[in-house]
Amino acid sequence: MRKPTIYITRKIPEYLLEPFKDRLHITMWTSESKPVPKDILYEEAKKADGLLCLITEKINQAFCQYASHLKIIANMAVGYDNIDLESAQKNKIIVTNTPDVLTETTADLTFALLMATARRLIEATNYIYNDQWGEWSPFMLAGSDIHHKTIGIVGMGRIGEAVAKRAKGFNMDILYHNRSRNLEVENELNATYVSFEDLLKESDFVVSLVPLSEATVDMFDKKAFQTMKSSGIFINASRGGVVDEDALFEALDKKIIRAAGLDVFKQEPISSTHPLTKLTNVVLLPHIGSASLATREKMLKLCLENIDLVFQGKQPKTPIY
Ligand code: DGY
Repeated sequence: MRKPTIYITRKIPEYLLEPFKDRLHITMWTSESKPVPKDILYEEAKKADGLLCLITEKINQAFCQYASHLKIIANMAVGYDNIDLESAQKNKIIVTNTPDVLTETTADLTFALLMATARRLIEATNYIYNDQWGEWSPFMLAGSDIHHKTIGIVGMGRIGEAVAKRAKGFNMDILYHNRSRNLEVENELNATYVSFEDLLKESDFVVSLVPLSEATVDMFDKKAFQTMKSSGIFINASRGGVVDEDALFEALDKKIIRAAGLDVFKQEPISSTHPLTKLTNVVLLPHIGSASLATREKMLKLCLENIDLVFQGKQPKTPIY
């Protein structure tokens, strides 16, 4: 019997493919670091029965119509704003993502970013590299406390909950805003559900973990930053599209808020000439939320398992719809 052909849009290690090779004919793009060009993606998708793709691939209406024969698209991410779900569904393509396996790793990074921003770790490192360290002095690189402060989490899903658990360990008060109430975090972590506006007003740290959708695009805008405390710190570990970056730049530049830690941007990658890189009160990371070796392996394995299950006529583990 013919094995289904799977196209993977990056080069991934052979050892991850081994367990699936008996049942799947796997082909892939030749680079680990560079996305597959659009024309090659289309050409390969035409020959394939299933696709394993990354957030760098735009799976839009045109693609879903062109590759409507695909049985499954396995997205190597928990977020799926790169995929036009309606079009995929219309063309009867199963779409899967990678929830759960990256929750703790992404929460670790979110909290690390919060701490690095509050305690000015990048500025402090650069202090040494730039030979700025003169004498020890009372307010040299003095930052913001984290313990006993208030964290406001926007988007209380799995990762939000994992960040809240970490915040609890730092004796922080936890506020959250979400589409629906999360009674587990209210009961177990003493988190308080508040309106978006109250969260902005009352939090020392505003942490965005909200997925990008029509409802959340640019939700952190000029008004939001003006509502935050002037000592407030903004952290974004979800998607750049939820932030009006011009408004954020202005808020940081004019000290409307104290600082920001960002793992994600509207248009990725950003370069060293991006306006935000001109500021000292930011910590900028290249979208590494889930980037531990173990978690990235688990994400790829889950994608392959989902594909394998679908071609065995079974339910994938993590379908989106
Ligand atoms: C996700 O999973 O959505 C991340 O942003 C990519 O790892």
